[in-house]
Amino acid sequence: MDTQQEEIDLQKLLRQQLHSLGQFGVREIPVGNGDFEFQFEAEEASIEPIERSKVPPNNSPQPAAKTVAKATAIPAPAATTPLSDNWGPATVHDERPSALEIINAEVRGCTKCEELCAKRIQTVFGVGDPSARLVFVGEGPGADEDRMGEPFVGKAGKLLNKILAASKLKREEVYILNTVKCRPPRNRNPTESEIRDCWDYADRQLEVIQPEFICCLGSVAAKTMLQTTQSLGRLRGKFHPWKGARLIVTYHPAYLLRNEGAKRHVWEDMQLLVKEMGIDLSN
Ligand code: URA
Repeated sequence: MDTQQEEIDLQKLLRQQLHSLGQFGVREIPVGNGDFEFQFEAEEASIEPIERSKVPPNNSPQPAAKTVAKATAIPAPAATTPLSDNWGPATVHDERPSALEIINAEVRGCTKCEELCAKRIQTVFGVGDPSARLVFVGEGPGADEDRMGEPFVGKAGKLLNKILAASKLKREEVYILNTVKCRPPRNRNPTESEIRDCWDYADRQLEVIQPEFICCLGSVAAKTMLQTTQSLGRLRGKFHPWKGARLIVTYHPAYLLRNEGAKRHVWEDMQLLVKEMGIDLSN
């Protein structure tokens, strides 16, 4: 078989495979490691190769274009992104904001925990960049967060903002979420069953965002994510593997407000974290 015929056959095979994926509702496929990258529109199953030479350089270790792992769970958008001459990672349609919005809509309507949803003003989903390299995971909303609908906006949040600034991180460039989405009354810890019922939302947020780094603020987040009963003191100060991300544990900012002495440990943990992220704190 000559090369031209082989190419035609290959394209035909690819079209068929993409067409059947499209019928299952798959909107995008991850970019591969070969010389070409493909995006396809499900209805037309049209194939458009992108030459790597046209792809702008990306210095970040995070892949420029990420597709949502649970693609089948995401309804197809009404309009598809038109393919143009200059499309590449920067213009590949990123479904993360809409995927997060779908989860948020579920959270808003959640009635799994009777007490929490009877007493909440609103659910507190998360805030930040849906493509963040780093996600902070707190415990649960307090009174201020319940009122504002955003995590870490009260006293502990102000301290977290200072920690971020000292670590050369911008709040809008990271993503912040909590282990549970509703305020536990009187600021008690969330119960095991509340965490069990709620954690799936955060887990799915993380699956959409696909961060490289995760920082657990406090033992509720750490024990939930690492499925351990070990103390925070034993868990902090090192990276733990978590579903392809690197997870670090540190003290909760609210704990720091009561225990000044723990601040130096948080600073050590943040230095370790941002160093791994390639951030230079020396100037
Ligand atoms: N403490 C948390 O764990 N989360 C918040 O959003 C606020 C305070």
